[in-house]
Amino acid sequence: MEEKKEPTGEPCFVGKKDELIQAKRSFRTIEGRDILIIHHQGVFYAMDSYCYHAGGALQTGDIEELNGKLCIICPNHKYKITLAQGEGIYKASDPREKPPVPRWYSKGVKQRTHTVTENNNGDVYVKLSDIAGWIESDFYQGEKGKIERERAAAEKDS
Ligand code: FES
Repeated sequence: MEEKKEPTGEPCFVGKKDELIQAKRSFRTIEGRDILIIHHQGVFYAMDSYCYHAGGALQTGDIEELNGKLCIICPNHKYKITLAQGEGIYKASDPREKPPVPRWYSKGVKQRTHTVTENNNGDVYVKLSDIAGWIESDFYQGEKGKIERERAAAEKDS
């Protein structure tokens, strides 16, 4: 069984601010973890690169404000994940309500997010999340995660 590697806690240089802004979405591997860095409306965000649901690549997901929160929408099955917290949100209505009114609900944090900082020289760093315990997007990281992503992709295509 693969050991879960603990992050060193050291911020890792991921690029120059100007380049990251221009790119809008940047993929980096930090300590074996695949991370998506997003620049949107003047703010940097970083999260695990593969969707917690079935390992979809979030890099090409649209970003929309939903229920007052900026979310990335996974291209695979349209799951919505808040950029700031990695919260999974969904809209549903209670059929017992007459008439049913669709509302937003939270599934809690599903996608691991990371901390982005920058210095005065325009260098940008990502510090990996050190939140203990399991967050669902952990499943698709590392060597084992690669196998799981391939398995999920094969199921989607079949
Ligand atoms: Fe992202 Fe299914 S893989 S919504």
